[in-house]
Amino acid sequence: MVATRWMAIGMILRQIRVGRMANFTYIVGDEASKVVAVIDPSWDLEIVLDELRHGLKLEYIINTHTHFDHVLGNEQLKALTGARIVMHKNSPLDKDVAVDDNDVIALGNLKMKVLYTPGHSKDSICLLAENKLFTGDTLFVGSCGRVDLPGGDAGELYESLKRLAMLDESIEVYPGHDYGYEQYSTIGREKMNNPAMKVKSKDEFLSMVGG
Ligand SMILES: [Fe+2]
Repeated sequence: MVATRWMAIGMILRQIRVGRMANFTYIVGDEASKVVAVIDPSWDLEIVLDELRHGLKLEYIINTHTHFDHVLGNEQLKALTGARIVMHKNSPLDKDVAVDDNDVIALGNLKMKVLYTPGHSKDSICLLAENKLFTGDTLFVGSCGRVDLPGGDAGELYESLKRLAMLDESIEVYPGHDYGYEQYSTIGREKMNNPAMKVKSKDEFLSMVGG
Protein backbone atom coordinates (compact mmCIF):
# COMPACT_ATOMS: atom_id res chain seq x y z
CA MET A 1 0.00 0.00 0.00
CA VAL A 2 2.85 2.38 0.79
CA ALA A 3 4.22 1.91 -2.71
CA THR A 4 0.80 2.55 -4.19
CA ARG A 5 0.50 5.85 -2.35
CA TRP A 6 4.01 6.81 -3.34
CA MET A 7 3.26 6.27 -7.03
CA ALA A 8 0.45 8.79 -6.80
CA ILE A 9 2.63 11.60 -5.50
CA GLY A 10 2.84 14.31 -8.10
CA MET A 11 -0.63 13.72 -9.42
CA ILE A 12 -3.61 16.03 -9.08
CA LEU A 13 -6.91 14.22 -8.47
CA ARG A 14 -10.26 15.67 -7.51
CA GLN A 15 -13.43 13.61 -7.41
CA ILE A 16 -16.54 15.81 -7.51
CA ARG A 17 -20.05 14.41 -7.07
CA VAL A 18 -22.43 16.36 -9.30
CA GLY A 19 -26.10 16.54 -10.24
CA ARG A 20 -28.98 14.35 -9.17
CA MET A 21 -27.87 11.14 -10.89
CA ALA A 22 -24.86 10.67 -8.60
CA ASN A 23 -22.38 11.42 -11.38
CA PHE A 24 -18.70 11.95 -10.70
CA THR A 25 -16.69 14.59 -12.52
CA TYR A 26 -12.92 14.29 -12.10
CA ILE A 27 -10.04 16.71 -12.39
CA VAL A 28 -6.82 14.83 -13.09
CA GLY A 29 -3.37 16.07 -13.92
CA ASP A 30 0.26 16.69 -13.23
CA GLU A 31 1.16 18.47 -9.99
CA ALA A 32 4.42 19.93 -11.34
CA SER A 33 3.04 21.63 -14.44
CA LYS A 34 -0.55 22.02 -13.15
CA VAL A 35 -1.78 20.72 -16.51
CA VAL A 36 -5.07 18.90 -16.00
CA ALA A 37 -7.98 17.25 -17.77
CA VAL A 38 -11.60 17.28 -16.68
CA ILE A 39 -13.24 13.88 -17.08
CA ASP A 40 -17.00 13.90 -17.70
CA PRO A 41 -18.04 17.50 -17.01
CA SER A 42 -21.76 17.56 -16.42
CA TRP A 43 -23.90 19.41 -13.87
CA ASP A 44 -22.54 21.75 -11.18
CA LEU A 45 -19.81 23.11 -13.44
CA GLU A 46 -19.23 26.03 -11.06
CA ILE A 47 -17.65 23.61 -8.58
CA VAL A 48 -15.26 22.40 -11.26
CA LEU A 49 -14.47 25.97 -12.32
CA ASP A 50 -13.75 26.92 -8.69
CA GLU A 51 -11.21 24.10 -8.48
CA LEU A 52 -9.60 25.10 -11.77
CA ARG A 53 -9.10 28.64 -10.46
CA HIS A 54 -6.45 27.31 -8.09
CA GLY A 55 -3.83 27.77 -10.81
CA LEU A 56 -4.74 24.68 -12.84
CA LYS A 57 -4.31 24.68 -16.62
CA LEU A 58 -7.13 22.79 -18.29
CA GLU A 59 -5.98 21.28 -21.59
CA TYR A 60 -8.47 18.50 -22.22
CA ILE A 61 -12.08 17.63 -21.58
CA ILE A 62 -12.30 13.84 -21.77
CA ASN A 63 -15.55 11.88 -21.88
CA THR A 64 -15.62 8.26 -20.76
CA HIS A 65 -18.59 7.92 -23.13
CA THR A 66 -21.13 10.25 -24.63
CA HIS A 67 -24.32 9.64 -22.68
CA PHE A 68 -25.82 13.02 -21.84
CA ASP A 69 -25.04 12.91 -18.12
CA HIS A 70 -21.30 12.62 -18.91
CA VAL A 71 -21.03 15.35 -21.57
CA LEU A 72 -23.53 17.99 -20.43
CA GLY A 73 -20.83 20.47 -19.37
CA ASN A 74 -18.56 20.01 -22.42
CA GLU A 75 -19.46 23.03 -24.52
CA GLN A 76 -19.65 25.52 -21.66
CA LEU A 77 -16.35 24.37 -20.22
CA LYS A 78 -14.73 24.52 -23.64
CA ALA A 79 -16.09 28.03 -24.29
CA LEU A 80 -14.75 29.25 -20.95
CA THR A 81 -11.31 27.63 -21.09
CA GLY A 82 -10.46 26.73 -24.70
CA ALA A 83 -9.82 23.12 -23.67
CA ARG A 84 -10.02 20.46 -26.36
CA ILE A 85 -12.68 17.76 -26.26
CA VAL A 86 -11.46 14.16 -26.36
CA MET A 87 -13.79 11.23 -27.07
CA HIS A 88 -13.55 7.73 -28.45
CA LYS A 89 -13.67 7.71 -32.24
CA ASN A 90 -17.04 5.93 -32.19
CA SER A 91 -18.73 8.87 -30.49
CA PRO A 92 -21.22 10.63 -32.80
CA LEU A 93 -20.66 13.99 -31.05
CA ASP A 94 -18.32 16.81 -32.11
CA LYS A 95 -14.81 16.33 -30.77
CA ASP A 96 -11.36 17.88 -31.19
CA VAL A 97 -9.44 14.67 -30.59
CA ALA A 98 -10.71 11.18 -31.48
CA VAL A 99 -8.96 8.46 -29.50
CA ASP A 100 -8.83 4.70 -29.71
CA ASP A 101 -7.52 1.80 -27.67
CA ASN A 102 -3.99 2.26 -26.23
CA ASP A 103 -3.72 5.92 -27.23
CA VAL A 104 -1.91 8.06 -24.68
CA ILE A 105 -2.99 11.55 -23.63
CA ALA A 106 -0.19 13.66 -22.12
CA LEU A 107 -1.08 15.96 -19.23
CA GLY A 108 2.24 17.64 -18.55
CA ASN A 109 4.42 14.76 -17.37
CA LEU A 110 1.44 12.56 -16.56
CA LYS A 111 0.54 9.97 -19.17
CA MET A 112 -3.06 8.84 -19.42
CA LYS A 113 -3.71 5.67 -21.38
CA VAL A 114 -6.98 4.97 -23.17
CA LEU A 115 -8.51 1.50 -22.81
CA TYR A 116 -11.39 0.88 -25.21
CA THR A 117 -14.02 -0.90 -23.13
CA PRO A 118 -17.29 -1.23 -25.06
CA GLY A 119 -20.38 -2.87 -23.60
CA HIS A 120 -22.23 -0.08 -21.80
CA SER A 121 -21.99 1.88 -25.06
CA LYS A 122 -20.03 1.67 -28.33
CA ASP A 123 -17.80 4.58 -27.32
CA SER A 124 -16.97 3.64 -23.72
CA ILE A 125 -13.38 4.10 -22.62
CA CYS A 126 -11.50 3.71 -19.36
CA LEU A 127 -8.55 5.97 -18.61
CA LEU A 128 -5.46 4.78 -16.75
CA ALA A 129 -3.08 7.31 -15.19
CA GLU A 130 -0.39 5.98 -12.84
CA ASN A 131 -2.32 3.61 -10.54
CA LYS A 132 -5.71 5.21 -11.04
CA LEU A 133 -8.34 3.92 -13.44
CA PHE A 134 -11.33 6.04 -14.43
CA THR A 135 -13.99 3.58 -15.43
CA GLY A 136 -16.97 5.69 -16.51
CA ASP A 137 -20.08 3.51 -16.69
CA THR A 138 -18.13 0.34 -17.48
CA LEU A 139 -17.35 -0.56 -13.86
CA PHE A 140 -18.90 0.82 -10.68
CA VAL A 141 -18.03 0.04 -7.08
CA GLY A 142 -20.03 -3.17 -6.57
CA SER A 143 -21.72 -3.31 -10.00
CA CYS A 144 -21.32 -2.56 -13.70
CA GLY A 145 -22.98 -0.36 -16.31
CA ARG A 146 -26.33 -1.24 -17.84
CA VAL A 147 -26.44 -2.81 -21.28
CA ASP A 148 -30.02 -2.08 -22.32
CA LEU A 149 -29.41 1.36 -23.86
CA PRO A 150 -28.64 1.84 -27.59
CA GLY A 151 -25.18 0.44 -28.32
CA GLY A 152 -25.20 -1.65 -25.16
CA ASP A 153 -23.88 -5.20 -25.53
CA ALA A 154 -23.59 -7.62 -22.62
CA GLY A 155 -21.03 -9.84 -24.38
CA GLU A 156 -18.78 -6.84 -25.04
CA LEU A 157 -19.12 -5.65 -21.45
CA TYR A 158 -18.11 -9.12 -20.23
CA GLU A 159 -14.93 -8.95 -22.32
CA SER A 160 -14.20 -5.39 -21.19
CA LEU A 161 -14.56 -6.32 -17.52
CA LYS A 162 -12.36 -9.35 -18.07
CA ARG A 163 -9.70 -7.05 -19.46
CA LEU A 164 -9.95 -4.75 -16.42
CA ALA A 165 -9.64 -7.80 -14.17
CA MET A 166 -6.22 -8.50 -15.73
CA LEU A 167 -4.86 -5.18 -14.46
CA ASP A 168 -2.79 -5.00 -11.29
CA GLU A 169 -5.05 -5.55 -8.29
CA SER A 170 -3.67 -2.48 -6.51
CA ILE A 171 -4.98 -0.15 -9.22
CA GLU A 172 -7.61 2.20 -7.84
CA VAL A 173 -11.02 2.35 -9.51
CA TYR A 174 -12.76 5.71 -9.91
CA PRO A 175 -16.24 5.16 -11.38
CA GLY A 176 -18.56 7.46 -13.33
CA HIS A 177 -21.32 7.30 -10.71
CA ASP A 178 -21.48 7.13 -6.93
CA TYR A 179 -23.49 3.89 -6.91
CA GLY A 180 -21.40 1.86 -4.46
CA TYR A 181 -20.76 1.54 -0.76
CA GLU A 182 -17.67 3.71 -1.26
CA GLN A 183 -16.65 6.38 -3.75
CA TYR A 184 -13.70 4.45 -5.11
CA SER A 185 -12.25 0.98 -4.91
CA THR A 186 -9.43 -1.14 -6.29
CA ILE A 187 -9.36 -3.79 -9.00
CA GLY A 188 -8.54 -6.37 -6.30
CA ARG A 189 -11.52 -5.45 -4.15
CA GLU A 190 -13.88 -5.44 -7.11
CA LYS A 191 -12.64 -8.88 -8.19
CA MET A 192 -13.42 -10.07 -4.69
CA ASN A 193 -16.75 -8.29 -4.05
CA ASN A 194 -18.34 -7.17 -7.31
CA PRO A 195 -20.80 -9.74 -8.74
CA ALA A 196 -20.06 -8.49 -12.28
CA MET A 197 -16.38 -9.35 -11.86
CA LYS A 198 -16.84 -12.49 -9.80
CA VAL A 199 -18.73 -14.40 -12.48
CA LYS A 200 -17.16 -17.67 -13.54
CA SER A 201 -18.31 -17.64 -17.16
CA LYS A 202 -19.75 -15.51 -19.92
CA ASP A 203 -23.08 -17.35 -19.65
CA GLU A 204 -23.29 -16.53 -15.95
CA PHE A 205 -22.60 -12.86 -16.75
CA LEU A 206 -25.18 -12.77 -19.54
CA SER A 207 -27.91 -14.23 -17.35
CA MET A 208 -26.98 -11.79 -14.57
CA VAL A 209 -27.19 -8.63 -16.69
CA GLY A 210 -30.00 -9.91 -18.88
CA GLY A 211 -28.02 -9.75 -22.12
FE1 LIG B 1 -23.83 5.95 -19.36
